[in-house]
Amino acid sequence: MDNPAQRTAGRTLDHAAGLYDILSPMVTLGREPRMHRNVVALLEPGSGCRVLDVGCATGALTTRIARTCAPLGGEVVGIDAAAKMIEAARRKHGQEPNLSFEAVLAEELPYEDGSFDRVVSTFFFHHVNRELKERALAEMHRVLRPEGRAVVVDVDVPTHWFGRLCAWSGYLLFRQPEIRENIEGVLRTAFDHSAFASWRQVAHQLGYVSTFVLERE
Ligand SMILES: C[S@@+](CC[C@H](N)C(=O)[O-])C[C@H]1O[C@@H](n2cnc3c(N)ncnc32)[C@H](O)[C@@H]1O
Repeated sequence: MDNPAQRTAGRTLDHAAGLYDILSPMVTLGREPRMHRNVVALLEPGSGCRVLDVGCATGALTTRIARTCAPLGGEVVGIDAAAKMIEAARRKHGQEPNLSFEAVLAEELPYEDGSFDRVVSTFFFHHVNRELKERALAEMHRVLRPEGRAVVVDVDVPTHWFGRLCAWSGYLLFRQPEIRENIEGVLRTAFDHSAFASWRQVAHQLGYVSTFVLERE
């Protein structure tokens, strides 16, 4: 399989594909199921809804969305730059009839303009630098239909001591400047610079993780 991870400055996770499903719930301190439920509720998928999950890793959230959309005749596509993540996602969830996974880059989505009703991205933006944050947002906007909606969950500006502790520990542990950017509000600035008609913060957890809804005009 072609590995687009070799063509991006994003921090891809091929090396973590085998352990991701064990490590990921730890990072969110067991809040993952609740976060996923909230994201699905915010997506409000309607009849025949097409949803794109950007930076889907092994596809846990993608699959939850697909199961919600199945009775509505909806379809879900999960993309990730790391080919090994996509292989793991297909192995685990490939049997869902309305779900597919593709190894592609968030900053070069190979989909037609306006081809999705909803786009979602959880914990992807702290893996890409400022330029890629803006390019990925531009692509998310392009592939959304008019009046479509994006839901983004990610590391954000911390609001209290525990959030500061978690966010800065993450930055120091992974030595990832992209996490620092989010802590300093760069993701919010990227939303301001994007073509989305509006964005708003709708939830904040653990003092450093925010959920945003972005609306296309
Ligand atoms: C922390 S994981 C988030 C996974 C999942 N959405 C979740 O909430 O558990 C971030 C993912 O972004 C992917 N990634 C990094 N740069 C990317 C890019 N330029 N395009 C697409 N995916 C990228 C990584 O390979 C990784 O699987």
